[in-house]
Amino acid sequence: MQVKDNTFLITGAASGLGAATAERLVAAGGRVVLCDLSDAVEAHAERLGEASRAIRGDVTSGDEIQAAVDAAVELSEGRGLAGVVHCAGVVSVAKLVDREGNPADLDAYNRTIQINLVGTFNVMRLAAAAMAKNAAGEDGERGVIINTASIAAFDGQVGQCAYSASKAGVVSMSLPAARELSRHGVRVMAIAPGVFETPMMSEIPDEAAQALAASVPFPKRLGKPDEFARLAEQIINNAMLNGEVIRLDGGIRMQ
Ligand SMILES: NC(=O)c1ccc[n+]([C@@H]2O[C@H](COP(=O)([O-])OP(=O)(O)OC[C@H]3O[C@@H](n4cnc5c(N)ncnc54)[C@H](O)[C@@H]3O)[C@@H](O)[C@H]2O)c1
Repeated sequence: MQVKDNTFLITGAASGLGAATAERLVAAGGRVVLCDLSDAVEAHAERLGEASRAIRGDVTSGDEIQAAVDAAVELSEGRGLAGVVHCAGVVSVAKLVDREGNPADLDAYNRTIQINLVGTFNVMRLAAAAMAKNAAGEDGERGVIINTASIAAFDGQVGQCAYSASKAGVVSMSLPAARELSRHGVRVMAIAPGVFETPMMSEIPDEAAQALAASVPFPKRLGKPDEFARLAEQIINNAMLNGEVIRLDGGIRMQ
């Protein structure tokens, strides 16, 4: 699948990894629909110019994501939605039992699962239904879906029960989704980032960020959003990448 002249839906595109991916795909000649809850998505689409459209949408809403998929099909001028890079997500931290002995809040747990896991399924199902209608390209390919997991799916830390479980769900959907969508010529991949310099991570105190950077075997720094975007671009380009989760983490293993 080539980026040039194809149209991609990017969720979580107002910020961080999604914003960087939108920028890279436009620079490579693609068209992008930027979808995000935040209205900052409009300014980012304006910066990217004519090849992009912004749409406010919540990844947990069927109607709003269908509208984003429809916007991408329209922007494609007849070629259809070629790919999705699904970056929308939230981080959450809560202990099962806090210092005062209170149990964790169940609504907060549900919210993380809804956005990160159910939201991913929602985006996949609507995108895949649109892609299945595309004309087949080389090898019968019709589309590619790239989800965003996290190394917390494998190395969850204290307080990450909700976040780790949500991302482990994203990891484990990759293979069954890829197997099922193979008959439509749609690939499914996931990227599991380590620690990246994005607004999501900016809430961590400087000292903690430095300690995290020092614990990366190589390179000893946080990842840059464009490094995520470059991997997403390679996954789009390389038809043999399917049904797999790629850690992008400099070799870090969380304790
Ligand atoms: N930054 C990291 O170190 C890191 C590491 C591992 C995984 N991730 C994952 O990467 C993805 C992107 O994270 P980021 O670091 O770019 O964070 P970010 O906070 O910079 O961007 C996330 C974007 O998602 C949007 N969003 C949140 N909930 C949404 C919803 N319900 N519907 C639509 N949009 C919604 C936010 O408005 C925001 O613009 C997330 O899934 C995150 O869990 C990030």
